[in-house]
Amino acid sequence: MTIQWFPGHMAKARREAKEKLKLIDVVIELVDARIPLSSRNPVIDELAKGKPRLVLLNKADLADPNHTKAWMSYFENLGNAVLQIDAQKGTGVKSISQEVQKLAKPLTDKMRAKGMNPRAIRALILGIPNVGKSTIINRLAGKKIAKIGDKPGITKAQQWIKVGKQMELLDTPGILWPKFEDQAVGYRLALTGAIKEEILDFQEMSVFLLRFLKDHYPERLKERYQLTLIPEDVIELFEEIGKKRGCLMSGGIVDYDRVAEILFREFRSGTMGRISLETPSTK
Ligand code: G4P
Repeated sequence: MTIQWFPGHMAKARREAKEKLKLIDVVIELVDARIPLSSRNPVIDELAKGKPRLVLLNKADLADPNHTKAWMSYFENLGNAVLQIDAQKGTGVKSISQEVQKLAKPLTDKMRAKGMNPRAIRALILGIPNVGKSTIINRLAGKKIAKIGDKPGITKAQQWIKVGKQMELLDTPGILWPKFEDQAVGYRLALTGAIKEEILDFQEMSVFLLRFLKDHYPERLKERYQLTLIPEDVIELFEEIGKKRGCLMSGGIVDYDRVAEILFREFRSGTMGRISLETPSTK
């Protein structure tokens, strides 16, 4: 479910995340591996300040593996622990607890130095809608945890999920708002399913996608749509694909809406292959 974010919702989400963070030793920041920067909440650094952080590049099954590698280094260089995962299939999820333990070592060492038996390390998942927070929580819990509406502000008694002996996870994630400031970010969020597609124009979004694919994945385009050459002009490219796919109206005019929809759906579903829409050098 996608939330319409208004200033009141954002203020509430921030307040709730801050409340939850008081109980937390380690923050698990969840982003979409295809758009790790665009899918970050704009104030995450301020919110999670002072807490050790594990960044999870989720939906790595849909992202370009080479770019994911580059993103792992990027986040490591910022001082975080990083894992790439596929929460849907569970790939990489087992390593989460281990990474959390490593991050919390200074804390457990301190407890031991005081003669205490270290307690379980408490973690919270933070991220924008649709990045896979519930899927991961269910994976870590080993069962389906009730989803209490995706709206910030709807509360229920919070519970801790035991993940092995040494980690506890808050059963409700911190739902944060996405970035809004830049149109390209908006397109990336919509193409990956993080914000409502209806908010944006399908044709505009598909032109954005085609431009990107033409520059970064030309071979993939050729292969998928059986093109021998990629026209320089993106509208011509749009038309070529329309013709190949038989998206023609009477008089042989290309049906732009249908082409746009096909491009969007085929990207979304992963039919075009593993594609990342952002690299660490993307502006
Ligand atoms: P949220 O709590 O952060 O809002 O996200 P949620 O877990 O509900 O996941 C959103 C969608 O993303 C779900 O698909 C879920 O199955 C999918 N998903 C989560 N993790 C992964 C992953 O690692 N790989 C892939 N391929 N998909 C993942 P859905 O219910 O079908 O929703 P939608 O795709 O129709 O939006």
